[in-house]
Amino acid sequence: MIVPVPDGERARWVPLAPPVQTSDGTLKSTAVACFRPNGRKHANAEHAFADGEGMSPNKTEFSMRFENRVVIVTGGAKGIGEGCCRVFCREGGHVAILDRDTDAAESLAVELTDAGPGTATAFACDVADHERLRGVIDDVATRFGRIDCLVNNAGVHPDATPIDETGVEDMERLMRVNYLSTFAGCKYAMPHLRKTRGTIVNMSSMTAVLGQHLSTAYCATKAAQVGLTKALAIEAGPDGVRVNAILPSNVDTPLMRHWAASLADPQSALARVAALQVFGRMASPEEIGRIALFLATEDSSFVTGQAIEAEGGASLDY
Ligand SMILES: NC(=O)c1ccc[n+]([C@@H]2O[C@H](COP(=O)([O-])OP(=O)(O)OC[C@H]3O[C@@H](n4cnc5c(N)ncnc54)[C@H](O)[C@@H]3O)[C@@H](O)[C@H]2O)c1
Repeated sequence: MIVPVPDGERARWVPLAPPVQTSDGTLKSTAVACFRPNGRKHANAEHAFADGEGMSPNKTEFSMRFENRVVIVTGGAKGIGEGCCRVFCREGGHVAILDRDTDAAESLAVELTDAGPGTATAFACDVADHERLRGVIDDVATRFGRIDCLVNNAGVHPDATPIDETGVEDMERLMRVNYLSTFAGCKYAMPHLRKTRGTIVNMSSMTAVLGQHLSTAYCATKAAQVGLTKALAIEAGPDGVRVNAILPSNVDTPLMRHWAASLADPQSALARVAALQVFGRMASPEEIGRIALFLATEDSSFVTGQAIEAEGGASLDY
């Protein structure tokens, strides 16, 4: 069977059996298959719905690259983490949104589950509390039966501060949030990821390799994530677990807007930052989410221990 997929669409879901009438009178498909742009049926993308369940209009077009798999995204309620959650959910994944902003995490979970085709569940978690992080990771594994990917994304960027005014305790606190949470997340997720031959994606930053003025503490935490990524990739490789880092340059997120708002002229600060990339713009959170998806699927099966510089050409032509 060959089904044409219109230009510009990534895939099309097609009923395999006549729809049934549900109690509220609507017609619902009972079994569907996914077709690729070349018209051929997508292997493993046939789905029979249980009684009463069915395709809703907003669940009709997607390519399901993360179908029935489970991802944990720390700091998933906003910014880059939110972008990751949107992408994984759109690809059929079950997304565990871990965030200290519980309200934002819960409303995003409701929105994503409603939109489908995947589902999202919010978990209150401050990643600086490593025991809590461990508990939530185990809870996700119990509830969903598996963990396929951990995105260690939660992080904060302090205001620009010279080293003379950065206390050792400030550095220690930032390490706890930005780096130790990444280490702890990897450590506690590894037993689950070995079972699924899963993946870890650590959200570092271009500042790990380029530095950033008045950001010694932040840059150190981001560079530590890269070292951890490479060392763990060696250790985890024989178990089939891949570990990679993404190093974004500038992404349009609440963190970025908050930084700009702290300056005298926020609009020109944002324009200056956008101009650093050769495209003259910042990345969107979902653009980074799509890289995370690539690193979490078989599309990147030979990629591990890498620091992927997602920088829109910002480091070229210096
Ligand atoms: N925005 C950028 O340009 C940029 C560039 C390079 C790297 N990064 C990195 O990307 C990651 C996300 O940045 P963003 O710009 O999306 O930030 P953001 O502030 O816009 O969003 C961060 C999310 O993480 C949550 N969070 C923060 N601290 C937490 C904690 N201790 N426990 C649980 N949740 C917590 C926040 O509530 C929020 O939902 C960070 O690690 C950051 O270092 C961002």
